[in-house]
Amino acid sequence: MADTQQIQQQAALSLKRLWPRLEAAFRKEIRAAPADWRAFEARLRREWERLFGLLLGLYGAHYDFFYHLEEIVRMAARSWFARPQWLKQLDARREADPTWFESQQMVGATCYVDLFAGTLNGLRQRLPYFKKLGLTYLHLMPLFESPAGNSDGGYAVSSYRRVNPAIGTSEELAGLAHEFQEHGISLVLDFVFNHTSDEHEWARLAQAGDPEYEQFYFLFPDRSMPDAYERTLREIFPTVRRGSFTWRDDMHKWVWTTFNSFQWDLNYANPAVFQAMAGEMLFIANLGVEILRLDAVAFIWKRLGTNCENQPEAHQIIRAFNALARIAAPSLLFKSEAIVHPDDVMSYISPQQCQLSYNPLLMALLWESLATSEVKLLDQSMSHRFHMPPGTTWVNYLRSHDDIGWTFDDNDAWWEWINPSGHRTFLNQFYTGRFPGSFARGLPFQENPATGDARISGTLASLAGLEQAIQSDDERQIDLAVRRILLLYSIILSIGGIPLIYLGDEVGTLNDYSFVANPYKAGDNRWVHRPEMDWTWHERVAHDATSPHGRIFAELVRLVALRKQQPAIYDTETEFVDTGNGHLFGYIRHGKGQRLFVVANFSGSPQEMDANRLRMYGASYHFTDLISSQKLTAEQPLRLEPYQCMWLEACTAG
Ligand code: GLC
Ligand code: GLC
Repeated sequence: MADTQQIQQQAALSLKRLWPRLEAAFRKEIRAAPADWRAFEARLRREWERLFGLLLGLYGAHYDFFYHLEEIVRMAARSWFARPQWLKQLDARREADPTWFESQQMVGATCYVDLFAGTLNGLRQRLPYFKKLGLTYLHLMPLFESPAGNSDGGYAVSSYRRVNPAIGTSEELAGLAHEFQEHGISLVLDFVFNHTSDEHEWARLAQAGDPEYEQFYFLFPDRSMPDAYERTLREIFPTVRRGSFTWRDDMHKWVWTTFNSFQWDLNYANPAVFQAMAGEMLFIANLGVEILRLDAVAFIWKRLGTNCENQPEAHQIIRAFNALARIAAPSLLFKSEAIVHPDDVMSYISPQQCQLSYNPLLMALLWESLATSEVKLLDQSMSHRFHMPPGTTWVNYLRSHDDIGWTFDDNDAWWEWINPSGHRTFLNQFYTGRFPGSFARGLPFQENPATGDARISGTLASLAGLEQAIQSDDERQIDLAVRRILLLYSIILSIGGIPLIYLGDEVGTLNDYSFVANPYKAGDNRWVHRPEMDWTWHERVAHDATSPHGRIFAELVRLVALRKQQPAIYDTETEFVDTGNGHLFGYIRHGKGQRLFVVANFSGSPQEMDANRLRMYGASYHFTDLISSQKLTAEQPLRLEPYQCMWLEACTAG
């Protein structure tokens, strides 16, 4: 490995050699837009050493390293010249306000275009709805071309440039991105870069025996290497297919397929793969996408003898993509989708890697606390795992299109006298409704007969008890389920970071079991929580205050608006406190001249917190609970109703 000084020298020399070649290649473009070129040059020079060092570390041993380096820089320049003017203006705005995404104004949502609105044009017509919800961030699930039939919900991408014709065109997508941006909504798309579908052009060329494209993937003539790797690999979809490799009869080869058999893992040890995917990334950015969700980020580098997750090179690759984004699409941000151990989740988060990250630990532990009605594991884990580096933030969610996995740290659990594996078994029992007295109606996802592991599918409302309560027509249970849902929302809206609503959950959509009738979906029960939005039903219930769905919707809209008025919710500096009551989760938010003390009751019965603590954490005697508008004093204990959450702000007496 070269030392820093050597890298600096090599970087400087390489750029000196490259620069005149670049100027010659782009003479026409430079003459047409000299200011654009100067801006590009300034950013390239600023990022160069970092980019060069990363690429050298990854690919320096290849004889044709300099060729790839030059191709990558040319591609960045081409992409910058092709970047639409409105995005260049946005770049300038974002560079002047680099922490814009940490604001309490941010509220996110995610949906499938086809299931939510039919087409991109249909989605455009839902703009008033998104504004009513207060959204500033919209993640559209994979929408590029993918195989007919099962495509893992679009996560098997056949072209990163052509939108799935059933929902629209890439011009429509770019138009939508621009229009939504004018309404303050940033577009978020997936960057499914760990694998392509087996119908992608690169995969087809590999199938045809083109040696250049065979190198894009991991192909093996026999079982010796697959067996060697599998000794230490985790199985991701064990009920779909055992192991991580797929036999292709047409090619007489085994292909590395971490997920489904039609999702071929890309080989990032090959610089041509890096270069090709970087080009696709910048193309997507130029459509008007502001945030890329780095799908399956943990899996992108393979190393024999390891689980091939979270390898150091995976971080290098993301850093190199990040540097390229800074140069050619400066407003582009990355969101990490690493649903792994909390230490590993953290390892992807930094301004130089992913500025945003899903918070799978908070998500899982909120569900854990609802099941146990105790907050000790949640409190303990958050107090040492919530803090983030400056310039980054969490994306806090309750449900996504995926399953829920119990990714808490075993030692955190032991510390609280919880047996982690026993506890995971309990949580799976609880959320599949097998545990006596459970309110939840979830399904076990990918139960692994060999290890006993499983994860959970189900909608927010069904997991929180609404399905069972409605089925049994039990008013009290319906009320409790609604309270649970609002409790969870009140937390992700106030804890710090961007709250993310999985659309459908804003009206308490229940599980939809009809997926079993579709042969392409029947084998994957995540479809139980991916129903088609029924707008007639939605119209009926969302405005009906007597229906639990209407209550959830109205309250959520109100809570979102309330969040946006609290400057203390800016960024992720949260202080977790011991409420002295095992059912009460508490934290303090302060900043920008405001202090909020949030207390949340995870139990189905009323709970109290003593007055001393209230005075101490609230720093006052008099409070307003912003959620209920109730005035309180710290003369007596604080009382919370079942599943109540309070946002307490100190106020003057009277
Ligand atoms: C991510 C997606 C998931 C998909 C997998 C493979 O985890 O969220 O839905 O199955 O990647 O792309
Ligand atoms: C993800 C996760 C895994 C998840 C799967 C898709 O990348 O690591 O836990 O369940 O892919 O659902």
